[in-house]
Amino acid sequence: MKKYFLIILLSCIYISSISAQQTYELVVNARKPGAEIQPTMYGLFFEDINFGADGGLYAELVKNRSFEFPQSLMGWNSFGKVEVRNDGAPFERNPHYVRLNNAGHGHKHTGLENEGFRGIGVKKDATYRFSVWARSGSAAGQKIRIELIDANNDPFERKELAIDSKEWKKYEIVLISPKEEPKASLRIFLTSEGPVDLEHISLFPTDTWKGRENGLRKDLVEALNELNPGLFRFPGGCIVEGTDLETRYDWKKSVGPVENRPLNENRWHYTFAHRLFPDYFQTYGMGFYELFLLSEDMGAEPLPVVNVGLSCQYQNEGEHCHVPVGELQDYIQDALDLIEFANGSTSTTWGKVRAEMGHPEPFNLKFIGIGNEQWGPEYPARLEKFIEAIRAQYPEIKIIGSSGPQAEGEDFDYLWPEMKRLKVDLVDEHYYRSPEWFLKQAARYDSYDRKGPKVFAGEYACHPQNRKNNFESALCESAFMTGLERNADIVHMATYAPLLAHVDAWQWRPDLIWFDNLRCVRTPNYYVQKLYAHHAGTNVLPLTWNKKALTGQDGLYASAVIDTNKKEIIVKLSNVSEENKEIRISLEGLSRKMKIQPEAQAILLKGEADKENTLDNPDAIVPVDSSVSVNGTVLQTTAEAGSFNVYRIAYTD
Ligand code: AHR
Repeated sequence: MKKYFLIILLSCIYISSISAQQTYELVVNARKPGAEIQPTMYGLFFEDINFGADGGLYAELVKNRSFEFPQSLMGWNSFGKVEVRNDGAPFERNPHYVRLNNAGHGHKHTGLENEGFRGIGVKKDATYRFSVWARSGSAAGQKIRIELIDANNDPFERKELAIDSKEWKKYEIVLISPKEEPKASLRIFLTSEGPVDLEHISLFPTDTWKGRENGLRKDLVEALNELNPGLFRFPGGCIVEGTDLETRYDWKKSVGPVENRPLNENRWHYTFAHRLFPDYFQTYGMGFYELFLLSEDMGAEPLPVVNVGLSCQYQNEGEHCHVPVGELQDYIQDALDLIEFANGSTSTTWGKVRAEMGHPEPFNLKFIGIGNEQWGPEYPARLEKFIEAIRAQYPEIKIIGSSGPQAEGEDFDYLWPEMKRLKVDLVDEHYYRSPEWFLKQAARYDSYDRKGPKVFAGEYACHPQNRKNNFESALCESAFMTGLERNADIVHMATYAPLLAHVDAWQWRPDLIWFDNLRCVRTPNYYVQKLYAHHAGTNVLPLTWNKKALTGQDGLYASAVIDTNKKEIIVKLSNVSEENKEIRISLEGLSRKMKIQPEAQAILLKGEADKENTLDNPDAIVPVDSSVSVNGTVLQTTAEAGSFNVYRIAYTD
């Protein structure tokens, strides 16, 4: 382990003749606060991948609650005389329901068991709201029993429910779990003569984020909220495109009464043949309304992304797979309607839908992404049509275009000039790359053209060879992000991706937050994001070493900002080398009024290169706070080998 990063990183570190013992004299010039750090700078990218929505953030515990999976009873174990029917369910877009018939003998039973999403996690003494739409087959009414079963098949909570009407009606009861069980299942069976019809069988913890019904998993939202995100991009990612256009994310199907939102395929169920998840579908239960609400809760700007009329270009070749340029009207209308849904008055068609869902106030949408990872001339040809329509109706909305899936190369070089020509406001760049790439790219934006669109680093993550969320990857991201911060005049948004992953059901890694049915763990990468977001500052300050930006010389990377509200100068410093480095940070250009406080806050994030945080050991790598003295205008310290450091130097004026 002591070999640390050098084996892989030495090649990327600028070789210097300066000895390891030297003191690095960094100069921060506070004469004039530079570019503003945009409030959207550090945000979140959310996609329903890795069971991120159904089975993750969306707190529903029942899988296939409406029996709409192509195999109607997938996720359910049925016994006795169960029929799946589609002749008269109460929800038009979810036509299937089950009928529990008399088992035919007093000692036999008819019922169902749901396995949840890799089990149903319940906590000791916590309450769970069971609900079902049901109708009795006879005027006398029917009875069902609802049980929570543990992994040994022992019921540990049970309630009876009377179904008293021959008409479809919603019934609810509360279950209280006497113990913690990470992999329970839900059993429902007929205890009267029957028959009884059941539809939309649901189980939610009552303790969701903000206690909302149809709510979100509290611990996961808390982890997101703790990041202080300025931006929330949704719903992806590739699911925006769909493997084919029929299965693209269709926001209009994700709003309105939850029981009537139709099921969609989730492409991550089969995208990687070596990681097949045949039970992965999108219920749209956490749809655009819930996602806008979550943005609002977190104080983040919502950034929805819509399909541009192209199905996933990785999986579809040739114009015939896409919407012809002349036939884009429905897709463009979807984008316009989305803006109306978010911002329109309650007298508009879509503003009314939002109001009926409980939010008459607008969501104040400012940004929209058109297309995800697109490439080739087929993209600008379509994007142009969207831009014309959106600019004509909503000139205030900022439009985000894509530079494709690669961070350089032919497609990237073609698309950037096209994005400039089309005058998009921001260009979405994606890079899932090696540690070496991240270190080399710390100066990436120093030479970007300042005249064109701004940059949205919309999906990025350092991928070490073992694809783990180890400290090495986090440290490289921290080094790279000094370049985002230094270039905040052009980089206005950055979102790590993907965000969430279920430990038993992931398709892609690394990811920012891992979870099981009851717990979650913040990765070292999470803490890097958190440190940047919490210490974002208001304006960039130039930071130099030997009159140059520090972008990897001797394994050091640094940037500085000022927070004119909190009155602090904040320096971020990554040392990716194997050696401790003596550092002197001199503050120059201070106005006469500015008095530097003698003690600064120092926050250290450090760990062994291959170390991870795990569910059982979540705090292996966490930021550690200390203080460091400031002598006049100079802070002298040691940046430990393999560490990310944040220094907050307070001043009065
Ligand atoms: O984040 C995972 C995937 O990576 C996204 O869906 C896609 O945009 C990118 O290829």
